[in-house]
Amino acid sequence: MSAHPFKHRHLLAIEGLDTVDVLQVLDTAEAFFEVSRRPVRKVPTLRGKTIINLFFEASTRTRTSFELAGKRLSADVVNISASSSSVSKGETLLDTCRTLEAMRPDVVVIRHDASGAAEYVSKRVQCSIVNAGDGQHEHPTQALLDAFTMRRAKGKLEKLVVTICGDVMHSRVARSNAALLRLFGADVRMVGPRTLLPVELDKLGVRVYDRLEPALDGADVVMVLRIQRERLQGAMLPTLREYSRTFGIGTKQLAYAKPDALVMHPGPMNRGVEISNDVADGSQSAVLDQVEAGVAVRMAVLYLLTGESGPVEASS
Ligand code: CP
Repeated sequence: MSAHPFKHRHLLAIEGLDTVDVLQVLDTAEAFFEVSRRPVRKVPTLRGKTIINLFFEASTRTRTSFELAGKRLSADVVNISASSSSVSKGETLLDTCRTLEAMRPDVVVIRHDASGAAEYVSKRVQCSIVNAGDGQHEHPTQALLDAFTMRRAKGKLEKLVVTICGDVMHSRVARSNAALLRLFGADVRMVGPRTLLPVELDKLGVRVYDRLEPALDGADVVMVLRIQRERLQGAMLPTLREYSRTFGIGTKQLAYAKPDALVMHPGPMNRGVEISNDVADGSQSAVLDQVEAGVAVRMAVLYLLTGESGPVEASS
């Protein structure tokens, strides 16, 4: 359990964190990981704290794991989706957040389709804000849970070769992962159709490829991204069938990477498009490990942001 206070009030992005911050989250998550494997999956650590999950976009993994993380720490957790709130009557993001803040939560977790939404709110409220994904900007807890999964599987983050494949353009997951992995000196490669590789990638310190074979050569981790059909415009892709043939990860493509390469996908997966069933369900797949890690990492984030301390105890 972390002996030092976390030095940030909010978690808005990986950009702005350092290796000490990241390791503090990952090491705290290690302490919480086994709580979810106990017969009684609850500790009293955040009793009396209130967490609001405010989701303006669809989510299965992030929303459920933040809810479980809060509940397993004994916090009171409230879930709000835009469609069932007064947002559907035209209330603004800021009015919604100020209204919720008047009920005195400790943490508000926000997912929103606008890049910068979580940061915008964080500058105008007193409680802690966690970015659960903002447009095409960042998804910091996804990168943290991915790092947790990689470190468990490979024993380190330093000098890993990580190839991120597919729709980089629309991926907040890719941006957060690149920022985190570069902190640890990983060799981060991105590969996909030129139309889905934004020009500013060189600023992230990653290597860019437009063919899978050289991009995957020697990779320790193959991270497959979802084709974000809802955000694709015009001629960004010829057809999904063509995309799958050129950039889909099947067993043949996976063989370009190291024999023990870990396969990751943030979900939800488009099976048969960016990833084959064989690979998604194969022995190298860490997809469900990522989901399990998500609960522990989000427990760590909530714990560190609320400034609580004390050992992980059995439920009382
Ligand atoms: N990885 C991820 O953010 O999944 P959800 O959209 O289901 O939360």
